[in-house]
Amino acid sequence: MARDVDSIKANNCETKMTMLHCVIEVFASIFKTGIVYDNCCHELIELGQLCHNALVKKTLQNPLFKNNDTSVILSKTAQIWNKCTLVGENVSLTPSP
Ligand SMILES: *[C@@H]1O[C@H](CO)[C@@H](O)[C@H](O)[C@H]1NC(C)=O
Ligand SMILES: *[C@@H]1O[C@H](CO)[C@@H](O)[C@H](O)[C@H]1NC(C)=O
Repeated sequence: MARDVDSIKANNCETKMTMLHCVIEVFASIFKTGIVYDNCCHELIELGQLCHNALVKKTLQNPLFKNNDTSVILSKTAQIWNKCTLVGENVSLTPSP
């Protein structure tokens, strides 16, 4: 657990989260429902998978989320990351219409 907090600090994850509405969008889609739109997917890719995972794990330690199934949350975390990497590929594969 302490390791997640350390990796957040070591990788400056919190300072990389520049677009707060994207953070909210990503977390809402993991812990509640909703989708992450392309512009926030790009933001998530910029943040990096290590930070994405570490921040979700840190959030899971919050008593507010104690009822959530860790395995469900972690699989949604991975799904959103994978979806966003595909969005990123699509953009780079189609530079002009
Ligand atoms: C997480 O827990 C909250 C409160 O119990 C619940 O409303 C929400 O649906 C849960 N989310 C997931 C992804 O299971
Ligand atoms: C990638 O682009 C194709 C063609 O525009 C589209 O059908 C597909 O849904 C896109 N995939 C993602 C993950 O956005």
